[in-house]
Amino acid sequence: MGQVHVSNHPLMLHKLTLLRDKDTNSRQFRELMREIAMLLTYEATADLPLTPVDIETPLAAMQGRQLQGNIGLVPILRAGLGLVEGVWELMPSAEVWHIGLFRDEQTLRPVEYYNKLPIQPTVDLCLVLDPMLATGGSAIATVDILKRWGAHSIKFVGVIAAPEGIENFSKAHPDVPIYVGVIDDHLNENAYIVPGLGDAGDRQFGTA
Ligand code: PRP
Ligand code: URA
Repeated sequence: MGQVHVSNHPLMLHKLTLLRDKDTNSRQFRELMREIAMLLTYEATADLPLTPVDIETPLAAMQGRQLQGNIGLVPILRAGLGLVEGVWELMPSAEVWHIGLFRDEQTLRPVEYYNKLPIQPTVDLCLVLDPMLATGGSAIATVDILKRWGAHSIKFVGVIAAPEGIENFSKAHPDVPIYVGVIDDHLNENAYIVPGLGDAGDRQFGTA
């Protein structure tokens, strides 16, 4: 199995509780997603390479450090969009490349409908963003697309995962680390995460 990082940070657990609550409205839901994305970014970027840079403070010359390489955010439409703003708060120069997938309700397999990646990769690290890792099919398909594109360094960043999704994704892409807020109990007969939060896209966009 690949690397799986599960946040146990008290702020994450507090915000996740608010996010899951069925009485949380779309506006609050989007704000919580933005805040949770910042917490996830902090954890998912802990090992990013740095390069030395010479600067002068008002008092002295010193060697500081800055992030090395280009970072690409790859939100899986629709629900992954809700994580972009929070990541951008911390890394405002990150490029954003959208991948459109929806899960067919009968087969539960991902169906691709949007992909405008340029011919050559433009980034050194891709952060795939999707709040829900249920069967793992959508995340696996997205990483398949990114690897065919030529991306070498990829991380998956999500909010709630099912054990089934973690297992399937890790088998398909053992080289891609997973960063999630929490791993829930199981998938129900419709492949929804239980207890989960319901449909992440509908709750964000008010389309339930
Ligand atoms: C949700 C979610 C993931 C996918 C997870 O998207 O945002 O992309 O389901 O399920 P999986 O791990 O079993 O593939 P959905 O297909 O509902 O589309 P939406 O974001 O446009 O609502
Ligand atoms: N997609 C969602 O939005 N929620 C789930 O629980 C599973 C897939």
